[in-house]
Amino acid sequence: MSADLSGRRLVVIGAGSRTGRRLARTASAAGAELVLAGPDPRKLEWTAGELAGPATVLPVDLTEEASIEALAARLGRFDHLVSTAAVPANGPLAELEPAAVRRAFDAKVIGPLLLAKHLAGQIAADGSLTFFSGVAAWRPVPGRTVMATTNGALAFLVRALAVEIAPVRVNAVSPGIVDTGSWDGLGADKAAFLASVAARNPARRVGTTDDLVKAVLHAIDNPYVTGTVLHVDGGARLV
Ligand SMILES: NC(=O)c1ccc[n+]([C@@H]2O[C@H](COP(=O)([O-])OP(=O)(O)OC[C@H]3O[C@@H](n4cnc5c(N)ncnc54)[C@H](OP(=O)(O)O)[C@@H]3O)[C@@H](O)[C@H]2O)c1
Repeated sequence: MSADLSGRRLVVIGAGSRTGRRLARTASAAGAELVLAGPDPRKLEWTAGELAGPATVLPVDLTEEASIEALAARLGRFDHLVSTAAVPANGPLAELEPAAVRRAFDAKVIGPLLLAKHLAGQIAADGSLTFFSGVAAWRPVPGRTVMATTNGALAFLVRALAVEIAPVRVNAVSPGIVDTGSWDGLGADKAAFLASVAARNPARRVGTTDDLVKAVLHAIDNPYVTGTVLHVDGGARLV
């Protein structure tokens, strides 16, 4: 993948698994110095062991402001930050627990807002923040109302932050159904689910983790992209 990240310091929140881990590997190979962040230090160390270049492990829990403040205190200056953090609260309305709903908002909306609050002064002027939204905001389905709402709120948050902390750029990537490993819990039903997704969407395929990494690198690398949602969903939001 094309971005040259030589000498740039990149913070990846969610670096212990799936898209965050793949992004860390790709960015390290492209010359970046990595800061690997997320809730589980063991997973972050696992990612660190796979990288081509230098990395620092800094645990953070985006549902706790004190944890974000502690990250800010230890982090120092950096160029780009990407967060894949998500704590979904899915299920029928009648079964939703307010505490779980609040945690979903903390991870996807309030956490990113607090990252901007506490880290804005430490980002390079030509740097960026990139967060993850998702297609549920544009194509809601029953049982995914909290996911739709958190992803939608994040899409509007990046517009507001792009104005408030300019010239630092702020964007979101919005995946459709992507085979990052997060659907493995479907077990024997996974293949049929992914085939039905591919049959319905205009791109006639399911997304890969690398599709998401490419979009993140574009958001980081293109200096004229800010306040934008990059839809990486095969056109699923249109049909
Ligand atoms: N895959 C899809 O089909 C799809 C579709 C739409 C949207 N998305 C969005 O795309 C992003 C990446 O998805 P993915 O499938 O690669 O993986 P994922 O499993 O959704 O990734 C979630 C990440 O959030 C981290 N996390 C959990 N709680 C946290 C907390 N309190 N503070 C900070 N980080 C926390 C997890 O850390 P650990 O590594 O320690 O578990 C994990 O790395 C997510 O935001 C997801 O909602 C994905």
